[in-house]
Amino acid sequence: MHVYTNRPEISNAVAKHKENGSKIGFVPTMGALHRGHASLFNFALERCDVVVVSIFVNPTQFNNSQDLETYPRDLQADLELLEKINPNLLVFAPGTTTIYGSKIKSIDYDFEGLNMVMEGAFRPGHFEGVATVLKYLFEIVQPHFAFFGEKDYQQLQIVNKLVAIEKLPVAIIGCPISRHDDGLAESSRNMRLSQSHREIAPFIYSTLLKAKELFNDKSIGDVHQFVTNAFADSTLKLEYFEIANASTLEHTESKKANELYRAFIAVFAGDVRLIDNIALN
Ligand code: PAJ
Repeated sequence: MHVYTNRPEISNAVAKHKENGSKIGFVPTMGALHRGHASLFNFALERCDVVVVSIFVNPTQFNNSQDLETYPRDLQADLELLEKINPNLLVFAPGTTTIYGSKIKSIDYDFEGLNMVMEGAFRPGHFEGVATVLKYLFEIVQPHFAFFGEKDYQQLQIVNKLVAIEKLPVAIIGCPISRHDDGLAESSRNMRLSQSHREIAPFIYSTLLKAKELFNDKSIGDVHQFVTNAFADSTLKLEYFEIANASTLEHTESKKANELYRAFIAVFAGDVRLIDNIALN
């Protein structure tokens, strides 16, 4: 498996494949790879001739410096997992200067409110950081397709907006959330859960499923009340539960015909923050 660390080498490798008519897929990650990431690599491998995976812990998207410092990093383990999935993957694992030069700074984007709600409200500057690194990565890799998980649904919508703003020639593909057998969404943060929190964590998804069921014939207010009550006695602390329009992410109080809605949740299990979401209709 080939691991690239500098710009011209990965750009040239991709350009050569393009000259041969290959369709290039790209899966950006921050490493600490798990089965959720693997589902994206497999999704991309099924649809593209050549798949590039980037591993880069992006400093500008961390609004909390301690979170950045403690983010799990194990390039060797990541490469072993990638090799097992498919030794033909191209891996791009740049250093911070390769991406940012000497200025580690986000670009200011107008995401028309998409970045102001939910994760954006609780993690100021996060999506500007995500968009900035993706703009740079897209320019370097120049893929035909890029694959993102619906696990980070708001991020997926931000990426769609970024591509429209910057008129980037890449098609964005959303991929379904990969879950443990008990329903907990796969995440690199799960390994930091205590045993008791790991046991109770599937409650997040089972509550979302119940909320989806209630959404059919109850008011949005009732669904909110149900979720708030469900977490009131739990050791999991609810940060937010939101029902929003699936494309604008606007907060919704009442359902309109022909609109798609999604429920979003963020929960603290001790100091581990977990997010999840579900399509409601
Ligand atoms: P990271 O958290 O490493 O996630 C990389 C990709 O894997 C994202 O598209 C994310 O949605 C997807 N993913 C994670 N867990 C998943 C799951 N359980 N099911 C399906 N997809 C899952 O997201 C980032 O990195 C960064 O913000 C990045 C886009 C790389 C920019 O720095």
